Amino acid sequence: MRRSSEGGDAPVICVDGPGGSGKGVLAGALAEKLGWRCLDSGVLYRAVAALASAAGAGLDDEAALARLAQGMDAETEGGRLLLNGTDRTADIRQEQVAKAASAVARHPAVRQAVLRQQRNARRAPGLVADGRDMGTVVFPDAELKIFLDASAEERARRRHKQLRSNGMRVSFHKVLADIRERDGRDSRRAASPLRPAEDAVIIDSTEMTIAEVLDRALALVGQRRLSKGGA
Ligand code: C5P
Repeated sequence: MRRSSEGGDAPVICVDGPGGSGKGVLAGALAEKLGWRCLDSGVLYRAVAALASAAGAGLDDEAALARLAQGMDAETEGGRLLLNGTDRTADIRQEQVAKAASAVARHPAVRQAVLRQQRNARRAPGLVADGRDMGTVVFPDAELKIFLDASAEERARRRHKQLRSNGMRVSFHKVLADIRERDGRDSRRAASPLRPAEDAVIIDSTEMTIAEVLDRALALVGQRRLSKGGA
């Protein structure tokens, strides 16, 4: 099988999809089941956005943003972010950082800088990578590509519930508008737009529980003989 030139030859499962589709939860659960590492690639773009805000770099300044991305030391294990030695996990979960991340991620030079860091996460015994372009650009030779989708309304409902349970007062309509805005920017951009890879399996989770989505994904893992012992 063809392998990417950087980042070793461990097996990879890609979980791509729009914000709020549940791909982070699915990727984490799959990684735990398989005993593999997990890469949340969105965290890297959020990290660049956080660094840009601290440095006063404009979201249109591609060269400055790319320099920040190249120089950053981001450790992202277990949903946490250690950025240049400081724990920034809570900061990068803010909605304004998500918006800024989507603006930062439009720039090809930023994506190029982040590419190497993503491919470096490919280590034995395997990697589950979640994002927007894991299957189309970062790991085109992955063993399994899942594209997890859900309607914008359902994704907004989930995000709204999550924000409210974290004590944030925000209206459902605002959350839905933000999701639509980010979807539009992520899908229409020229560099690595959000779209399923040709060989991705599309799962629409609009009417599925997390457990049902995980069962479906584990069935695919079993079919491709990716679980321990090749079952
Ligand atoms: O997945 P998350 O919401 O953390 O991603 C934040 C933003 O980072 C997305 O809206 C998207 O613009 C960008 N992103 C990307 N490519 C990825 C992961 C995230 O462009 N692989």
